[in-house]
Amino acid sequence: MDVVILLGAPGSGKGTVAGRLVAADKTLRHVSSGELLRDAVEHHTAAGDEADAYMKRGELVPDALIARIVADLMAELDGPRALLLDGFPRTVVQAQALDRTIESCGASLAAVVLLEVPDEILVDRIAGRRMCSVCGAGYHVTNLPPRVDGICDACGGALKVRKDDNPETAKNRLAVYRTQTMPLIEFYEARGVLRRVPGTGPIDEIVERARRAL
Ligand code: AP5
Repeated sequence: MDVVILLGAPGSGKGTVAGRLVAADKTLRHVSSGELLRDAVEHHTAAGDEADAYMKRGELVPDALIARIVADLMAELDGPRALLLDGFPRTVVQAQALDRTIESCGASLAAVVLLEVPDEILVDRIAGRRMCSVCGAGYHVTNLPPRVDGICDACGGALKVRKDDNPETAKNRLAVYRTQTMPLIEFYEARGVLRRVPGTGPIDEIVERARRAL
């Protein structure tokens, strides 16, 4: 199994791009660390209860916690040709843990796709994001609106604002990205696996650029 990492700031479009790549190619599997954690919080698992306070502040959850969740999931996976990791790793310590997991699963790191988006666009995307409370589909109030205001096109569920998309927490998430996650750009560039993809413009074009970079 190949592992592809989608790297990028909060709001850069990692989830949107991964969702479309997987919809077009059933041999891919999308794993979002944020979704795994939000699910754990909602179901009050031990990991979720531990992660909740960090996420509400826009901080990263402890490396060991998220590395274990992803390693357990990868050990159980059977079938996908490639795994799209969205939001993991986010620190150099997590990247080193991922290296060990990849080795123990007999997988290989195929590429790290970096979605590059200017800060002012990130802020606008986070402020306008809406999520389906039932199926998790993502929308944006102006860039990607649903057909009927407040209602998911896919399942009819009510759309909601993500808890950590308020301005204060979003500002902290962007600061955390700069200090803790951006060092990964150099980390993977030194290995020759980093592919930079401009993350602005029509979504279909960005998805096509990302597909070519895989
Ligand atoms: P996570 O859920 O991973 O959030 P994030 O990295 O902050 O990323 P986002 O989900 O905000 O953005 P995205 O890049 O997926 O953008 P999207 O496609 O939605 O993490 C949440 C929290 O969990 C973290 O703060 C942390 O606490 C914890 N966590 C997660 N992983 C962790 C880890 N590894 N270690 C420690 N803690 C971890 O797009 C955004 C919006 O823009 C949408 O509305 C979309 O419709 C719109 N949009 C997208 N593309 C375009 C486009 N081309 N044009 C116009 N609009 C667009």
